Amino acid sequence: MSGAGPIVIAHRGASGYLPEHTLEAKAMAHAMGADFIEQDVVLTRDGIPIVLHDIHLDSTTDVEHRFGGRCREDGRFYALDFTLAEIRQLRLHERSYKDERGREHAYFPTRFPLGQGEFSLPTLEEEIQLLAGLDRSRGTRTGLYVEIKAPRWHAAQGMDIATAVLEVLQRTGYGDRPERVFLQCFDDQTLIALKSRTPLPLIQLIGDNAWGEDGGVDYDAMRTPEGIARVASYAQGIGPWIPQVVHQGQSGLEVTDLTRQAKRHQILVHPYTLRKDQLPEGIEDPDQLHQLLFDQAGVDGLFTDFPDITRRYLDSRP
Ligand code: G3P
Ligand code: CA
Repeated sequence: MSGAGPIVIAHRGASGYLPEHTLEAKAMAHAMGADFIEQDVVLTRDGIPIVLHDIHLDSTTDVEHRFGGRCREDGRFYALDFTLAEIRQLRLHERSYKDERGREHAYFPTRFPLGQGEFSLPTLEEEIQLLAGLDRSRGTRTGLYVEIKAPRWHAAQGMDIATAVLEVLQRTGYGDRPERVFLQCFDDQTLIALKSRTPLPLIQLIGDNAWGEDGGVDYDAMRTPEGIARVASYAQGIGPWIPQVVHQGQSGLEVTDLTRQAKRHQILVHPYTLRKDQLPEGIEDPDQLHQLLFDQAGVDGLFTDFPDITRRYLDSRP
């Protein structure tokens, strides 16, 4: 970590340069000087925490090719329906989607080529071992930023994802290191339950009600002064969507009141996600967004797909 001041959180690793949540992307983020590196976590059928953004495997792996008949009625392939041994057979690639004719396209066309490379899907424990090893060989202290994905959905499938994550953190020596780990979740009830189970700082992610996140949390209510006061009673910070911090007002780009509300309660603000190839409307380059977030809004950290450019911005500030 770089010391006091805002932190660089490598979002799914250096995912602007290598496929998200591969160990290669994590090693690159480490080398780029990220303070924290993010792990989105879901469970396999045998209850192993793996690092994957979606509860589905089809947007970032070749599961359809290897296990053709194993989708559910909705046509999706769920990580929870596959053992770790099966998931180890998959090849991971850049995030993609299919058009109406079934043709596959890269979600971010200028990033790592879709059909190229030999990447696999890591467990949470394997990724932690990699980062701990790099910390040792490079003499650094990089933090983990673990997101518990879809806890209510996992519970409905008979799985306790929060406990599985805590067990891995405990086993790898990170369970009692609040300076080195953040736990994040969109579900407020999960965080409230975690408060008495772990000394690790908790970050309440704030989405948009229109997204239909797992659990049906009311994020509009959460962003009111009363809502932020309630979050401050169980979490050490919030992870809002960037347009909730900086948006287009009547006279151009404006900082919203959200960061000020959080500061009133002395909780952290870590917005997501800076993508230089998908900037918010009205923003012309990444440093304009960095300036608005760090220097005008006063956020405490930023999830970024491009940890090198966010690192460079923070290191060059007076
Ligand atoms: O966890 C911060 C950010 O990653 C939340 O959005 O969907 O990318 O996990 P998502
Ligand atoms: Ca995340």
